[in-house]
Amino acid sequence: MAIILDEISRTFQEYLLLPGCTTTEHTHDKISLKAPIQRYHKSEGMKAKLNIPIVSSAMQAVTGSKLSVALARKGGCGFIFCSQSIEDQAKMVRQVKEHKAGFVESDSNLSPSATLADVIELRNKTGHSTIAITEDGGKHSKLLGLLTSKDFWEFKDDLSKPVSEYYTPSEKLIFGEVGISLQEATDKLWQSKKECLPIIDKNGALHSLVFRKDFYDHKTNPDELTDDKKKLFVGAALNTYDYMDRAGSLIEAGVDVMVLDSSDGYGEWQKNAALELREEYGSDIILGGGNVVTAEAFRYLADVAKVDFVKVGIGGGSICITREQKGIGRGQASSVMEVAKERDKYFQETGHYIPICSDGGLSSDTQIIIALAMGADFVMMGRYFAMTSESPTPKISHKGRVYKPYWGEGSNRARNWQRYSQSSSKTLTFEEGVDAYVPYSGNMSETLDVTVLKLKSTMSNVGVNSLNDFHKNAKLVRVSEMTLVESGTGSVEQLDRILSEEK
Ligand code: IMP
Repeated sequence: MAIILDEISRTFQEYLLLPGCTTTEHTHDKISLKAPIQRYHKSEGMKAKLNIPIVSSAMQAVTGSKLSVALARKGGCGFIFCSQSIEDQAKMVRQVKEHKAGFVESDSNLSPSATLADVIELRNKTGHSTIAITEDGGKHSKLLGLLTSKDFWEFKDDLSKPVSEYYTPSEKLIFGEVGISLQEATDKLWQSKKECLPIIDKNGALHSLVFRKDFYDHKTNPDELTDDKKKLFVGAALNTYDYMDRAGSLIEAGVDVMVLDSSDGYGEWQKNAALELREEYGSDIILGGGNVVTAEAFRYLADVAKVDFVKVGIGGGSICITREQKGIGRGQASSVMEVAKERDKYFQETGHYIPICSDGGLSSDTQIIIALAMGADFVMMGRYFAMTSESPTPKISHKGRVYKPYWGEGSNRARNWQRYSQSSSKTLTFEEGVDAYVPYSGNMSETLDVTVLKLKSTMSNVGVNSLNDFHKNAKLVRVSEMTLVESGTGSVEQLDRILSEEK
């Protein structure tokens, strides 16, 4: 007979944290959210680390270079998806590594014959209000001038008119030349009191733009995560098929961390891939493995496959139908608790600390906080980031609401069959993910700021200053159904509900 565990599979919503004693030492400025992302021995201390314990899923609808840049600037790390050609994935990694903070490639460009209606359409698409007017509308052709929202009135001007009648011509602009440092460019903006400085080459072709607002942005992002050459930190996923070729190209492109991306990482394919990669690249690379949901699978990846970190979670993802399709998986809280316990045991026994990442199923800030309290070193999220303006998908408006498409890697749309199947058959038999929409949540950095603020606030309530102490000191209780009811608002009518009922 099968082994039937005397355990109920638990989720994060079933737990609450109890406050600990908060002292004057537990203020937000003293709380560190640094999290290890590479195995280390207790004699050497933490090696590579994140500045905030948050990474984005390696999924087509989630992590491209734009989101990776934005997330690294906040202190986390994007994992660029591997369900694309090796060349395309390496190109995305390169784009992040070549991102020069402050110098942005113009993504809003038009030729002088474009109309004001074209301007509005482009502005709605990109969300940017500064448009470069170039000879042929290309981002690197000769710059003729700039057009911003201040140059015309959307509801007064005739939108069929050409932008040539409205833009500020280059004679009236100030420029920087390619090669100028960010400091010099910033000084030019400061002295001229302008909002934007176009950078051009010696032939007058547009190279990039420097914005005054980005200077403030940089100053307000003290957690930016960079490599030792001050380039933004970026991750990428590998599958267990073309991993040697893929890893070679990703490493050449400058990737900082890789992860073997599999829905079930407890197996020989993953072990063989990890060991082969380790043999080729030694301990120079940071290589994660997963996903797992049990103590023995953690030990297998940590001890036998020698990965740097282990991702935890099967079947909890918001777009995931693995549990429905195959009857396999485990509640995310049960998985994290068991694996965190095993990680600590392994550390006690060997002195090696192998960080764990809670991957999937986190649909609120509370759940992120509980996952970290239960022992996750960092969390990986898909839906959270798919909803933001920095994810690679377009915004879609439906009945007055704005959405973004979000689909699983195991859906027919992504066709990332390598993540799901070790069978040699190329034909799909069933999907493990759905193709869906999520509400648009706006700018990622603002969403993330709120999450980080709540996390620090909870850590202060618990009376801890580091994630390591959070793991050691957090006290959690199971909640009853009635406690959940009590946790919401009680016996009051919320205004928005009254208004919607009146409609
Ligand atoms: P979310 O944060 O709840 O949206 O979950 C994202 C996580 O779901 C990813 O990091 C993957 O581990 C997992 N995932 C991605 N695509 C699929 C799929 O098609 N089926 C099952 N799980 C998926």
